Parts: sequence; structure tokens; C-alpha cells
Amino acid sequence: MADVSKNLCAVILAAGAGSRLGYPNERGGKPMVEALGKPLLAYGLERLAGAGLRDVALVVNPVNQPVIEAFAGDGARWGLKISYVLQQKPLGIAHALSLCQDFSAGRHVLLLLVDNLFAANIDAAVAAYAEGQPEQAEVFLVKVANPQDYGVAVVANGQVERLVEKPQKFISDLAVIGLYFYPPDVYNFIPQLKPSARGELEITDVNSLFLQQGRLKCCELRGWWIDVGNAERLAEAERLLRG
Ligand code: DAU
Repeated sequence: MADVSKNLCAVILAAGAGSRLGYPNERGGKPMVEALGKPLLAYGLERLAGAGLRDVALVVNPVNQPVIEAFAGDGARWGLKISYVLQQKPLGIAHALSLCQDFSAGRHVLLLLVDNLFAANIDAAVAAYAEGQPEQAEVFLVKVANPQDYGVAVVANGQVERLVEKPQKFISDLAVIGLYFYPPDVYNFIPQLKPSARGELEITDVNSLFLQQGRLKCCELRGWWIDVGNAERLAEAERLLRG
């Protein structure tokens, strides 16, 4: 297997509160929400280690940082090297990513949202991206019944034509999941963004800028995907993980 970790580092966004799931930041927040007795963060770390990544930044908030550090430490348990990046306020996914520029140090970057669980094996996609060192960003799509809850892609002939964050009117049933691959210049795009209606710097706007430049690739994933946002979805994730 190619040395994926030479060219590709990873960022996991772990700064979200999981209050609706009984995990306020004092208990570690979203990353520490357990599915089948295992924190969501452990699923993400295992997945990245399994795909050959080594260098991982965890974006945490001032309250959950000590809990997350006590759990994940330096990452050696997974064969990873973990760095911690502090996001003072939840100003958006793109904002959280922007804080990781020094960590990325000119490498390509894989971004994973900690509350995203999915069945697909991404090892081959990670290896291809790390080896290819493309100028394109890559997003992953899954067909869903409730596209209004997600970032959504309109796709024709295998190409993304348009991206919309939480569309109120139906435009497509392909959700953009919380896994993104970016070339090193992703950090140049973020300062151009304006806060959205929800007051956040949106990752969908970053992806739209790549699209405008003809630099966005998409890949539809097979199998289930769940954004573990509430108790119902957590129960569904546990059912699917049991297989
Ligand atoms: O789950 C996939 C969806 O994630 C995508 O389809 C959407 O395009 C994308 O915007 C995002 O939507 P959400 O509204 O579900 O994102 P949420 O605010 O729940 O944040 C996702 C994770 O990122 C969550 O675990 C918390 C973390 N986060 C979020 C923000 C806004 C941070 O670490 N820092 C932040 O500032």
C-alpha cells in the first residue's frame, strides 16, 4: 500500500455539543456520544488509521478539550499522531477548517465530521487521492429521503452542477456527507466566505468555489450513512452497526 500519510493529513471536527444526546460539552460533547458503547470519535479515528492516515488534527472547543484529550491522548492507541486545534466559538465548519492551516503545512487534507457514520470502505479513495495529489476537491454523496436536512448536490453525467445547503425546495436527493478531500490551497478559499443565514462559514460555500473553478469531483457512496444528530438517528445507527 502506498504511504498515504506522506501527502495527506486529516482533520476531524469535534467541537460540536451533543446536548440533545445527553452529551453536553462538559461530558465531551458530540465526539463522546456512544454508539454501541463506543464514542463517535473512536469510529472516526479507527477509520482514518485503517485508511493509512497518521497525522490527525482534532478541532475541539474550550469546554470539551480536556475530556477529548483524556480519551484520545496523542493517538498512539490507534497508531496515529493527534494534534489539538482549539475553536473558541462554533463559527462554522469552514471556520473550524481554517484553523488547521499550520497543521496541514502544505499537504492535502481529509476533513471528517465526527458525527458522520457510514458503511462504505473509503480506503481505496483515500489512497487514490493521496497518491494522485490532485488539484481537485472531492465530495462524497449518498441518496437520502430527507435532503432538506443536508448539503445537497445536483449531479448530471457524474459531474456536480450545483450545491445547496439545506434546500427548502427539492433539487436533488443526493446529500453531501461529512467527508471531504481538499488540495492544499483550500485555505485560500475560506477568507472569501461570508457568514450564512445561520451565522456560519459554510463548507458548502467552499465546495461551491471549487465547483466554480471546475475543480470539484464527486463520488456516490454505497451503503448506509447517518449524521448522528438526535436520539432517533443514534438508535438507527446502532441498528445498522449491529448489521
Ligand atoms: O452531516 C453532513 C452535513 O454536515 C452536510 O450535508 C452539510 O452540508 C454540512 O453543512 C453539515 O451540516 P450540519 O448542519 O449537520 O452541521 P453541524 O452544524 O451539525 O456540524 C457538523 C459537525 O461539525 C458537528 O459534529 C460539529 C462540528 N462543528 C460544527 C461547527 C458549525 C465544529 O466542530 N465547529 C463548528 O463551528
